[in-house]
Amino acid sequence: MADKLLGVLILTRHGDRAGFYQDPKTYTASGTAITPLGTKQEFQLGQLLRSMYLNASSPLNIQGMNDTLVNQNQIHVRADAGGELGVIYDSAVALLQGLFPANANYTQDLANGTDVQGALAGYQYVPIESVEPTNDVSLEGYTLCNTFNDATTAFYASAEFAQKKNETSAFLAMLPPYLDGRPVTLENMYNIFDFMNVQSIHNADFAKALPPTFLPQVRALANWHEYGVFTSANLDGAGNIAGRAILPGIIANLRSIANATDPLKFAYQSLAYKPFLSLFNMTGVAQAHPELAGLVNYAASVAIEVRQPNDGSEPVIRLNFKNGTDASFVTYPLLGGSGDVTISALANHVNPALVNSTTQWCTACNNTQDRGCGALAQAAAAALASAPAAHRHQPISPVGAGFLGAGLTVAVMLAMFAVLTFLGCLTIGRGKGKARRAGTPSSKSDHDEKA
Ligand SMILES: *[C@@H]1O[C@H](CO)[C@@H](O)[C@H](O)[C@H]1NC(C)=O
Ligand SMILES: *[C@@H]1O[C@H](CO)[C@@H](O)[C@H](O)[C@H]1NC(C)=O
Ligand SMILES: *[C@@H]1O[C@H](CO)[C@@H](O)[C@H](O)[C@H]1NC(C)=O
Repeated sequence: MADKLLGVLILTRHGDRAGFYQDPKTYTASGTAITPLGTKQEFQLGQLLRSMYLNASSPLNIQGMNDTLVNQNQIHVRADAGGELGVIYDSAVALLQGLFPANANYTQDLANGTDVQGALAGYQYVPIESVEPTNDVSLEGYTLCNTFNDATTAFYASAEFAQKKNETSAFLAMLPPYLDGRPVTLENMYNIFDFMNVQSIHNADFAKALPPTFLPQVRALANWHEYGVFTSANLDGAGNIAGRAILPGIIANLRSIANATDPLKFAYQSLAYKPFLSLFNMTGVAQAHPELAGLVNYAASVAIEVRQPNDGSEPVIRLNFKNGTDASFVTYPLLGGSGDVTISALANHVNPALVNSTTQWCTACNNTQDRGCGALAQAAAAALASAPAAHRHQPISPVGAGFLGAGLTVAVMLAMFAVLTFLGCLTIGRGKGKARRAGTPSSKSDHDEKA
């Protein structure tokens, strides 16, 4: 008899989008929007996931999950609200429309006797947590991360990079006619690929003029470039910061799904391509399958299934990956093994590299001013100054795994409050996720606290 599927964690890359530029050194991004094609790709991915996981006749059906009317305690959705502006959030909206289509039974009797159906013939709105990089480092560990920028600079200065430059200079010299004035350097390879890829999808003249081998060649170079930037030879290296920051939330989601007393069954994180590179590196799948050492396509998806073995032993996980619209899900063994692994095995493997809180991120990224690090540094200094002399040598240690503010001692919190109030930059009563829908049950944020 097959083991029981307790639930699934889905990680997706956004769908097709318009032009995009990111700084080759800092990965600060600008200028893009989702396209009609992008919404369609994500919607279809949502439909596919529904047919696999929310379908009583599928072998992958998640038992006990309500597949007609949404039970908001069973699904938890987060979307990166960073550099790609609305693209990643909108991708999540489109995917959820495919995952939970309108249902004629989404109705309610009113006091006056009228039966009301939800908007759009019973469409159901699943809350999406909008994860703002300024106050939550988990989905974009790499922005404003000084050690990551240093690692990128070191990669660009490496012998390996110099050799690649040599090998590719003749090819790159042929590209200017197709780049509309963009810098043609190996450092700028991601932007070169992105521009040519976007143009070849949306600009008929460009697509006709571009020699057919150029895009695959440019893609292969971008794959190599981005794997070099977003991974590290060491699990806890700065290049892996995207994976190190996102993994605590991933592990927390998997544990919630495995926990019989926790209602969560379907966790979904809508992302940029960067965390996938680090994750495939840190979980060993790219080592066993070198074809995974590259960019994931638009609407690519990782589905990590949580399964209860028949013998009642600890739940295990299985990673499946679908590299965009034209590909199918393929299972890749985690941690260099050949079968499913326990959640503990994954957690133990990555544990030394995890960035569990903003405080840890500030240290790992050597940042004392951005993304909350300035307030934390000031608060720590103020707490130290105001602490009685006898207590000065006690370390100010994070007590939890939460992000900004949640992992500090009361003394630090009070001091920070005082500093922020003094500086006039604290607004009381503002939620963490600015686009979080009204009516989101508070149980949703319980998952964040565990993250
Ligand atoms: C009952 O209330 C709803 C919502 O206010 C309204 O649309 C509907 O017309 C009312 N029905 C009757 C019979 O008054
Ligand atoms: C991770 O990537 C680095 C290159 O940055 C490579 O040296 C290392 O072998 C990779 N690790 C795994 C487990 O794939
Ligand atoms: C995804 O597919 C593209 C080709 O469509 C390939 O270049 C890339 O390496 C693949 N990425 C992964 C992570 O498998």
